Amino acid sequence: MGKTGRKVVEVPINELLTDLNKAYADEWCALYQYWYDALITEGINAPIVAEHLKKQALDEMKHAEKIGNRILELGGTPVSRPDKLVHASGCGYIDPPKDKTDLKQIIQDTLKAERCAIEAYNRLAKMTLGKDPVTYELASDLLTDEVSDEEEFENLLANL
Ligand SMILES: [Fe+2]
Ligand SMILES: [Fe+2]
Repeated sequence: MGKTGRKVVEVPINELLTDLNKAYADEWCALYQYWYDALITEGINAPIVAEHLKKQALDEMKHAEKIGNRILELGGTPVSRPDKLVHASGCGYIDPPKDKTDLKQIIQDTLKAERCAIEAYNRLAKMTLGKDPVTYELASDLLTDEVSDEEEFENLLANL
């Protein structure tokens, strides 16, 4: 990013980059978790849940791209190796359930990841409010998406 673009950021850039990289890794962990659960799940209602998970995984990939672009703009480096993603993430990765037909568990694991992301983007939005409008807008946009994701999966769980 240009000098001025970085100069106007009134939060310590290192702190910001740490939080952004955590979120970046969270998005990749969530995307792989959802995508993998969709791949392995079995049973009569599995295709419905798998459709939701696959759509969600694609959305999380778009989130990762947006965060990655912001990290680059700020002069940072998005986590470059897949084997570092779980360690770098704030929310971690949840292993698939032993029972592949346990859709409730899969949805609960999805909700855990979404709720962790909501907390993280809410913190990032508060941290950047009035201090870094570009990251603030990004955090608010992603927060809006994760809030709607949580609702989608809560409804899915209720209607299973
Ligand atoms: Fe996301
Ligand atoms: Fe999400």
